[in-house]
Amino acid sequence: MIKKAVYAGTFDPFTNGHDDILRRSLSLFEEVTVLVAVSPSKKPLFSAEERVAMLKDHFKNEPQVKVDSWAGLLVDYAKNNNIGVLIRGLRPTGDFEFEFQMASMNNKLYPELETVFLVTEGQNYYISSSLVKEIYNHGRDVSEFVPEAILERLVKKLGES
Ligand code: COA
Repeated sequence: MIKKAVYAGTFDPFTNGHDDILRRSLSLFEEVTVLVAVSPSKKPLFSAEERVAMLKDHFKNEPQVKVDSWAGLLVDYAKNNNIGVLIRGLRPTGDFEFEFQMASMNNKLYPELETVFLVTEGQNYYISSSLVKEIYNHGRDVSEFVPEAILERLVKKLGES
């Protein structure tokens, strides 16, 4: 039985789509690490430290969830932390080819890591972190797309910029 899994992403910000995948994975694994990828090439709105802080706040009552950040290869994080599964959410919006390539390369680099795909729920198919920021920047409410602890910080951050 594989006990430890990792759910990685840029999470700028973490959305209800991510939350759905993460919460469903908790019934499959004893411990799931939400791993914030630093992702400087995406020029994130929130620093990695800010993303970790808001995720720790959001999951403060979930003992199964750990939050961490990483600037290297995912496979190296998994190896260093004895993690056997990478969780990915799959959407019917063109994810498959990229996911297949990433899973194959990760398997080549570290065969002990299995990728497990969870199918994204219907109401989350069309959410992405960039779209949430864009919609908010155009003055529309995004509260149905992000968890409350994240929304508060998003409103504050975008209000400052
Ligand atoms: N519901 C809603 N939105 C979702 C979602 C879901 N279930 N799953 C993903 N998304 C969104 C994300 O918010 C993201 O939106 P954005 O592009 O607007 O920011 C988009 O879909 C793409 O998500 P994802 O593919 O998870 O990209 P990411 O940038 O969040 O994370 C990493 C990608 C970090 C997991 C990947 O680049 C990685 O593994 N990096 C580490 C380096 C490495 O190991 N590289 C070699 C890999 S072979």
